[in-house]
Amino acid sequence: MNTEHVIRTFVEYFQDRGHRRITGSTLLSPPGDSVLFTTAGMHPLTPYLEGRPHPLGRRLVNVQRCLRTTDLDEVGDSTHLTVFEMLGTWSLGDYDGSRSIEWGHDLLVEGLEVDPGLLYATVFGGDERSGPDTDSLRTWQERGVPVELTTGENWWSNGPTGPCGPDTEIFVWTGEGPPQSTPTGDERWVEVWNHVMMRYRRGDDGTLGLLPQPNVDTGLGLERLVAVLQGKESVFETDLFEPWMRTVPSLWQLPEQPLRVVCDHLRSGIVVIGDGVLPSNTGRGYVLRRLVRRVLTTLWRDDPSRTLGDLPEELFRHTLDHFGQNGPSGRVREVLLDEELRFTRLLERGRHILSQPRFSTQLDEEDYSYLHDTHGLPRDLVLGLRGDALG
Ligand code: ALA
Repeated sequence: MNTEHVIRTFVEYFQDRGHRRITGSTLLSPPGDSVLFTTAGMHPLTPYLEGRPHPLGRRLVNVQRCLRTTDLDEVGDSTHLTVFEMLGTWSLGDYDGSRSIEWGHDLLVEGLEVDPGLLYATVFGGDERSGPDTDSLRTWQERGVPVELTTGENWWSNGPTGPCGPDTEIFVWTGEGPPQSTPTGDERWVEVWNHVMMRYRRGDDGTLGLLPQPNVDTGLGLERLVAVLQGKESVFETDLFEPWMRTVPSLWQLPEQPLRVVCDHLRSGIVVIGDGVLPSNTGRGYVLRRLVRRVLTTLWRDDPSRTLGDLPEELFRHTLDHFGQNGPSGRVREVLLDEELRFTRLLERGRHILSQPRFSTQLDEEDYSYLHDTHGLPRDLVLGLRGDALG
C-alpha cells in the first residue's frame, strides 16, 4: 500500500461520510499569525473552530503539510520529520467524538487493514481543567480496544491560547511479537492518530472557556502510518523516501542517523523554498537557512568538497510533485546553491578572522558579541570552527 493509496483511501472514506475536501494549504501561516509555519492541520481552520461558519460546511477533510521546529532534535529517529503531512478531519459543531473514534477505528481496521489486536488508545483521565473523557473511554471499550488513561499526554492545544481540549490518541504496536506494556510504557507503541474533543478555548488571560460549538479535530501522521502499513522500521524506509535513500548514499557515504537528517532537511528545504521562502537571518528564512547549513555542516565534516550541486534532479521533482508544487525545480536548486556559496564564504571569513592571535585563547562574551555584530559570525558557527568541526 503506497502513500498515494493511503491518502486516497483516507480522503474517500470521509468524503463518503459527508466530508468536503479542503485544499491542503501552503506551509506559510496567514499574515499576522503567531506562528511562522503551519504546525497542525487545524491551524488554518482556527476561526471556524471558534464558530465562524465554514463555506464548505461542518464536515471537512484534508491533507495538510506541516513544519515543526520543536521536533528538530528528534529528526533522525524512526518517526520524526521536519516537514510532514497530516491527514485531518473536522466536525465543526457537528458529530461527536464517539462517532469520530468509531469511524477512525473502522478505517484503520477495515479500510487500511491494520490488525485490530495491535491497537491501543490513550484517553484523558481528568484533571482540574475537565473531568475524565468517559465517552471516549466507553467507545473504545465497546470496540474491544485497550485503553490507558493519562492527563498530561491527553490534552491538545496548538499554542498557549486558542481552541483546545482533551484528546484520545491511537497507537499501533510496531515491535516484534505480541504487544507489551502500554503506550506510555513502551516506545514501540507508535502514535498514529489523534482525535481532539475541541470544546474549549484558552483566552489571552489564561482562563478556559467553552467554545460556541463542540468540535472534533483529528490529525493522522501520514508518514508514520505508511511506515506501519508497509511494515518498515522507520519513515525513511517508506516509498516517500525511496528516491532519497537510493540516491543519497551513493553520493555521500554517511552513517545512518546523519543520512536521515540530511535527507529530511534537504527534502524539507525543497518544500519550504517551493512555498516561496528564501534563506535569510530572520523568521521563516532563518529556519530554512538553519536546515541547509546543518546539512552542509554534516556533509563537510568528512569531505569539504561535497556540494548540493550533485543532488539528482529526480529528488527535486519527486518532492515538488508530491507536494503539488508546480514551480521549476531549477529555481529551487539555485536557491540551495546560492546558500551553499554564502555559507562557504562565511566559513572562509570566519576561519581567517579566528586565526588572529586575539582569538587564540578562551573567548568571552565580548568576543562573541564582537564576532557576531562586526563580522556576522554566530556563536554556534564560531564554536564549530574553533572545535575544528568544520575542517
Ligand atoms: N490537532 C491535533 C494534532 O495535531 C489533531 O495532533
